[in-house]
Amino acid sequence: MAASTETALFVVRERAPGERRVAATPDSVRRQVGKGLTVLVEHGAGEAAGFPDQAYADAGARLVDGGAVHDARLVARVAPPSVEEVEGLGPDTVLLTFLAPHRNVATVRALTERKVSTLAMDMVPRITRAQSIDALSSQANVAGYRAVVEAAYHLDKYFPLFMTAAGTIRPARVVILGAGVAGLQAVATAKRLGAIIHVSDIREAAREEVASLGGTFIEVPEIEDATGEGGYAKEVGESFLERQRAVLTEFLSQAHAAITTAQIPGRPAPELITREMVEAMQPGSVVIDLAAADGGNCALTEVGRVVEHDGVRIIPGNDFPSAMPGEASALYARNIAAFVELLVDDERGLHLDRDDEVVAGALVTHAGEVTAPRIAELLGGKDD
Ligand code: NAI
Repeated sequence: MAASTETALFVVRERAPGERRVAATPDSVRRQVGKGLTVLVEHGAGEAAGFPDQAYADAGARLVDGGAVHDARLVARVAPPSVEEVEGLGPDTVLLTFLAPHRNVATVRALTERKVSTLAMDMVPRITRAQSIDALSSQANVAGYRAVVEAAYHLDKYFPLFMTAAGTIRPARVVILGAGVAGLQAVATAKRLGAIIHVSDIREAAREEVASLGGTFIEVPEIEDATGEGGYAKEVGESFLERQRAVLTEFLSQAHAAITTAQIPGRPAPELITREMVEAMQPGSVVIDLAAADGGNCALTEVGRVVEHDGVRIIPGNDFPSAMPGEASALYARNIAAFVELLVDDERGLHLDRDDEVVAGALVTHAGEVTAPRIAELLGGKDD
């Protein structure tokens, strides 16, 4: 990056209910200020994550009120903005944020109307060059770890094998559905705690990754490799899902905890655990659903509420990164700082290079248009 003193980066105080993360930490601010950027931090922005205003001031930021966002060219935040928050942005703003555009149609429309250039942190291409910007991965890692800790907390039994003079306690059996970033972190964490782990995924590459972390891959008859674009999963047909559910029922009936992470980008999460499958689980067992925000992998999942059904607790995991706000923010702030470095250079200052694969992939709205074809298509067929 670039010594560009004209470019001011505004760091928002999050207002979404339950959001405790922040898009910059005193450390990330210190580095950015050192490179010549002016950083404006909204009063109280880091409080819920454990970073007081004074720490940002000491790092070289200017503490400002929310209204100052209107004059900043670069705005960084965590949660998608509300329509009212979009209305507070100046035209020509470059906004870095998680967007979940398929769930926030009204916000995408408002950003378009306001002529904001929106770089969605959840649409950064998963390519090697963009690894330092990959906020989906940094936050999924937190969520995968936290899912296991929550499962262990909610279970009334040990995770590891215990052999004592008073007898042997058998290890917990954990089923993990989806072996992407969160799922693999959950495998590694559950393994460290000593559980027996079985994992289902539909991408061929996942089989080896699961085995290397000490999990056992669940075989589904006539499994097809559903690897799609960019290493993501493609949607699979209902007949495969039915075969998968039949196999999973058996594993779940013996499990103490299920951790579900299965997602298809831009689509509702596949339903992998039906009500009947929950009813076949042992009382006292838990389901942790990391796909809750996209409809959930379990039919009984509810966002914001723990559901108890036939003695099984179903826990939504959509806010797990926010439950560890200091470290989740530190990782996210590094992702944001790396993206800002790509956007600001010495000669041109802030510049959106649409020939850059990372910028082009993440750009959702620009100059009054929806620039991401997948999102434009989605909006075409959706009401607010
Ligand atoms: P995700 O959050 O979109 O999905 C989680 C997992 O659910 C995926 O592994 C997917 O295959 C699985 N899934 C979908 N439907 C399923 C079903 N019916 N049953 C079982 N599992 C199902 O994925 P995430 O974690 O964002 O990453 C997925 C892949 O993206 C990675 O494994 C990798 O190939 C690629 N990636 C590449 C990166 C890079 O090159 N820098 C960084 C991160 C991810």
